[in-house]
Amino acid sequence: MLCVEDLSVSYGAFKALDGVSFKVAKSGTLHGIIGPNGAGKSTLMDALTGRRLPTRGKVLLEGKEITRRSVVWRRRNGISRSFQRTSIFPGHTVREQIELAAWRMGAGDAGEIIEAMGLEPVASLHADTIAYGDQRRVDIALALVGRPRLMLLDEPAAGLSKRETMALFDHLQSLVQDRGVTALVVEHDVDAVFGFCSEVTALDLGKVITTDSPAAVRRDARVVSAYLGSAA
Ligand SMILES: Nc1ncnc2c1ncn2[C@@H]1O[C@H](COP(=O)(O)OP(=O)(O)OP(=O)(O)O)[C@@H](O)[C@H]1O
Ligand SMILES: [Mg+2]
Repeated sequence: MLCVEDLSVSYGAFKALDGVSFKVAKSGTLHGIIGPNGAGKSTLMDALTGRRLPTRGKVLLEGKEITRRSVVWRRRNGISRSFQRTSIFPGHTVREQIELAAWRMGAGDAGEIIEAMGLEPVASLHADTIAYGDQRRVDIALALVGRPRLMLLDEPAAGLSKRETMALFDHLQSLVQDRGVTALVVEHDVDAVFGFCSEVTALDLGKVITTDSPAAVRRDARVVSAYLGSAA
């Protein structure tokens, strides 16, 4: 469903991504992106959302090339991202935030998304007053608006406890399955990634080390030395 071919992104003379290729074959799965700080994970997400244009390479979504499409075009054509920013419409309740996002997309799925994300208990509260874990779920809810085919989540569990992180990934796994959406998720908690993602791409220094099953990535000597160290 997603095909990334030889993708390179530079910041001036510095190559943040250098010939990155991988595929996500199946819909309705979580695909993990791991790697040390500065590996290029967020840069990859930016290239996939259209925030940053690559200097080389291609991105194909369901066989169609989208490499140079705008951010807005991608959002309207099935690629969404989370922002780690709860109040895109300040001063509104959780329900209003999601309804406004849906209205802007011409989508009618706000109520269904509030339910799917378990946000009903906080729906009438102002988004900036709810618990941090709920805010992270609002962030994902906003990315679900308009039934995207591909969701890009950059550290959706940032700031959460171990227990909350595992619960969020458990929830994400059933969510993507139920909705047939694929999520590319950058995460530093390797237990969450290996426990809930069906495939994992490991990056280091702007290059792919490997894309494989969690079990294979976990025991890959190159991944262990670049990132996992003794944690694996
Ligand atoms: N706007 C920028 N200008 C110049 N260099 C940048 C810019 N953004 C990122 N970089 C550099 O590009 C490299 C990749 O950064 P990126 O943010 O993609 O890494 P990351 O894998 O997301 O890291 P982290 O785990 O810390 O989030 C880093 O060396 C970073 O310093
Ligand atoms: Mg990052």
